Amino acid sequence: MFKDFKLVAGRPVYIQVKDYLKNLIVKGALQDNQKLPSTRELATLLKVSRNSVISAYAGLEDDGFAYTVQGQGSYAVSTSPGSEAASSWNIDWKSRMNGHARLAEELDIMKRGIRAEKGTISFTSIAPDESLFDLDNVKRAFLDRMSVEGNILLNYGYAKGYKPLIEYLQQYMEHKGVNMKGKDILITNGFTEGFNLVLSALSRKNGKVICENPTHQTAIKNLKLHGFGITGIPMERDGIHLGQLEKALSEDTYDCAYFVPSYHNPTGIVMSPEKRQGLMKLMNQYGVPVIEDGFNEELRYSGSHVAPLIATAGGGNSVVYLGSFSKVLFPGLRIGWILADQELIYYLESIKRAQNIHTSTLDQSILYQYLYNGNLEKYLKRARSEYKRKYELTLQCCKEYVPFTTLSGDGGLHLFVTFAQGFNVRVLLEACREQGVIFTAGDIFFTDGGGQHTMRLGFSRVSDEDIRKGIACIGRVARQLMG
Ligand SMILES: Cc1ncc(COP(=O)(O)O)c(C=O)c1O
Repeated sequence: MFKDFKLVAGRPVYIQVKDYLKNLIVKGALQDNQKLPSTRELATLLKVSRNSVISAYAGLEDDGFAYTVQGQGSYAVSTSPGSEAASSWNIDWKSRMNGHARLAEELDIMKRGIRAEKGTISFTSIAPDESLFDLDNVKRAFLDRMSVEGNILLNYGYAKGYKPLIEYLQQYMEHKGVNMKGKDILITNGFTEGFNLVLSALSRKNGKVICENPTHQTAIKNLKLHGFGITGIPMERDGIHLGQLEKALSEDTYDCAYFVPSYHNPTGIVMSPEKRQGLMKLMNQYGVPVIEDGFNEELRYSGSHVAPLIATAGGGNSVVYLGSFSKVLFPGLRIGWILADQELIYYLESIKRAQNIHTSTLDQSILYQYLYNGNLEKYLKRARSEYKRKYELTLQCCKEYVPFTTLSGDGGLHLFVTFAQGFNVRVLLEACREQGVIFTAGDIFFTDGGGQHTMRLGFSRVSDEDIRKGIACIGRVARQLMG
């Protein structure tokens, strides 16, 4: 015994000794009431200082894994093993899963994603490029905030969110042209939680939601998990097809609509200002509340600022705006917000409190201080210029190599490629994977089982060289398959 103890660097030695002994006790190698070696003896055996063993024994005693008999030494206390019946009782958890869990698993494409070998060129991600993150300013923001109110930040906070961040966002949204009168903000764990909160709050009259087709896969998944039927409306080059939207609205009733007007995922299209006006007119005419996903708005590379739908709505309260810092800054912080009518926020706050009490105050405060210190503008300038360069390179490579029918993407972190009808992108994907290149097959974004001839190319985390090599490969294989 004691021969397999190995010290690791950077962790207090006495804790490593304590954990090692605890493990021996739990596994039964050291039995109940068994005498532990003297501190001197164990120190020699483990090649550590005697003080470390003394502290380890004291720690074991504090945790209830050892006791001392004055003048005799320390003894192990084993945790009571379960009864034989309980320890051999194994539940078949799969059979106990409800419909919700089964559907969540079925729709979890991350578990079914294509496996990439090491060295594969992958166009599947639309996450930011972490090498652009200005870590020094994030660290400074953390230290600044901790020194101001570290104790408070580590305690429970408010369901609605960290007040300074809410106030910052109020002004931020005002600068986007939003009339804030009668509106309020709730901080969420990214867009995804905000979306779920709204869906769980809405009363269900018809159980149907209308949206763009294709659309954000996570939104499709959550709409299905909430039991909504989905009607997808095709896209045109400048956004959703208003004629088809009107037809659908006149034929059925919808509990709400979900739209991604800027840098739409997956098509990358920015809805034109005229279309935004037309869209809002229709939604008002048919009385359908709008959930607006503004996740990517800041990643504009050219052209003028386009106001979000919630700004188009003026003093009206029919738009629920979901913002997120996942693309604009750091997805790991999981911070987003809901901007909506104050009465709706009042209810959403209660649902959020019931579900997870609040979003991490520490994370919110770091983000707030980072924004307050004026870092967003500097970071965005750098990120935009880098992504714009990659965007233009990807665009140019697609035009040079890929036999597409249409290509869309006005900015953001991806491009969307449509091939001729009948071309099977899943076959292309498999053939490219064999050559070390992968991308996202577009069918996962379609609400009606279509899109087999489409693909999304995320370029944010791919090097220039790999963009060239990867797209040349996709183009070559696609031409071969087309014959
Ligand atoms: C359309 C859309 N909305 C929102 C998000 C961000 O979601 P979250 O803030 O939960 O990370 C993404 C991320 O890819 C997206 O594509």
